Amino acid sequence: MTMKLIKTVCLVLWALTVHSTANELKERALRLMAEAPLIDGHNDLPWQLRNTFNNQLNAVDLYMLNSTHTNIPKIKEGRLSAQFWAAYVPCDTQYNDAVRQTLEQIDVIHRMCQKYPDVFTFATSSQDIEDTFAQNKTACLIGVEGGHSIDSSLATLRTMYQLGVRYLTLTHSCNTPWVDNWLVDTGSEPAVHNGLSDFGKQVILEMNRIGMLVDLAHVSVKVMKQVLEISKAPVIFSHSSAYSICPHKRNVPDDVLLEVKNKNGIVMINFYNDYVTCQRTANISHVADHFDHIKKVAGSSIIGFGGDYDGVPRVPVGLEDVSKYPDLVAELLRRGWTDEDITKALGRNLLRVFKEVERVRDSLKDLKPDDIPIPLKEVQNPCRTDYGYPDKTNSACTHSLYPLVLVLTLLNKLL
Ligand SMILES: *[C@@H]1O[C@H](CO)[C@@H](O)[C@H](O)[C@H]1NC(C)=O
Ligand SMILES: *[C@@H]1O[C@H](CO)[C@@H](O)[C@H](O)[C@H]1NC(C)=O
Ligand SMILES: *[C@@H]1O[C@H](CO)[C@@H](O)[C@H](O)[C@H]1NC(C)=O
Ligand SMILES: [Zn+2]
Repeated sequence: MTMKLIKTVCLVLWALTVHSTANELKERALRLMAEAPLIDGHNDLPWQLRNTFNNQLNAVDLYMLNSTHTNIPKIKEGRLSAQFWAAYVPCDTQYNDAVRQTLEQIDVIHRMCQKYPDVFTFATSSQDIEDTFAQNKTACLIGVEGGHSIDSSLATLRTMYQLGVRYLTLTHSCNTPWVDNWLVDTGSEPAVHNGLSDFGKQVILEMNRIGMLVDLAHVSVKVMKQVLEISKAPVIFSHSSAYSICPHKRNVPDDVLLEVKNKNGIVMINFYNDYVTCQRTANISHVADHFDHIKKVAGSSIIGFGGDYDGVPRVPVGLEDVSKYPDLVAELLRRGWTDEDITKALGRNLLRVFKEVERVRDSLKDLKPDDIPIPLKEVQNPCRTDYGYPDKTNSACTHSLYPLVLVLTLLNKLL
């Protein structure tokens, strides 16, 4: 009888301790998040706006929207201080209307931020992110996800920068005429360039010159290594996790993590179940395992958050939507992360990278814009004319590459 009572009392005390510790951790997490901005590398809400509403934003209330991982109440609860919104268009727009569709995604991001001026501020610099955080608002940034969106054109790249785009993910899940994507590492797509073509190298250096962050999520390992070697500025992975924890080819291997560290870059960790556990199910501890692993291999200076919310069909238990970031921070505190580790991972690392990219841009201001176009033979496809090229062939719609493009597009859809 007494034994049973003691046991019950112990159990109750234990439960109380665990509970109050959890509360304390959450409070500490929220305090840290009031000190340092949370900057997330990748969110696909704009794609949801196209997919569900055909970008008819007037009919959408971002306070009430509840079919998505992201809405304004969740953003506030999650203390999301800055978001790189993905201007993503699928690979089957390549050689078709990718540029128009990308412009429409850039437009819908601008409109979304303008529609809620008390919540959002559009941002194009590291300083803008800091100023917006000081005003307790959420900074909107744009990242274009996939090199197919620039249609092999440096002029298009520069114009997108002028529209406020601040990173370009070199590929989505398809090769472009100048760079290979991660699917070549799975064997499901042939390597076309063995990394970057010469024009691909021009793209990297032009991005360095104008101050566009280079995003290596979605590229092949060969491309990761080449860019880490040639880029004059640090690079980011906007939404990728650790290959050693889950050997999915979208994740980053340990030797690359070390090169990212040497380059002063950052890996913003993806929460998608399939990249976190290599299975369909995952929870918040599994995501924290990726944070721990990358910290162990390369230190907390290369870590960031890249949730991939609204871009994936499955997210971990405990990280169901953007309101849950503080719970992940609490979990990292529970695992012994210091306040400094946490504030770096939240956003200070990304700010460091962004500032360095801006510094490199400023240091290259005497360099002329690169106006050497991609060689015509590398971009022949039925939807591209060849005005301006002296060696023009005038047969744009009958090209032998077209069947190949079709087959690749079909394959890509099937996979
Ligand atoms: C989600 O929003 C719709 C439309 O505003 C509303 O009818 C529905 O009840 C909401 N569902 C939940 C779970 O809040
Ligand atoms: C900032 O926003 C959060 C979340 O909306 C709110 O809880 C907090 O009181 C705000 N802080 C200030 C200083 O306005
Ligand atoms: C997550 O799942 C693992 C089993 O895969 C389990 O051991 C762990 O306790 C879970 N963590 C949470 C927070 O639910
Ligand atoms: Zn992606």
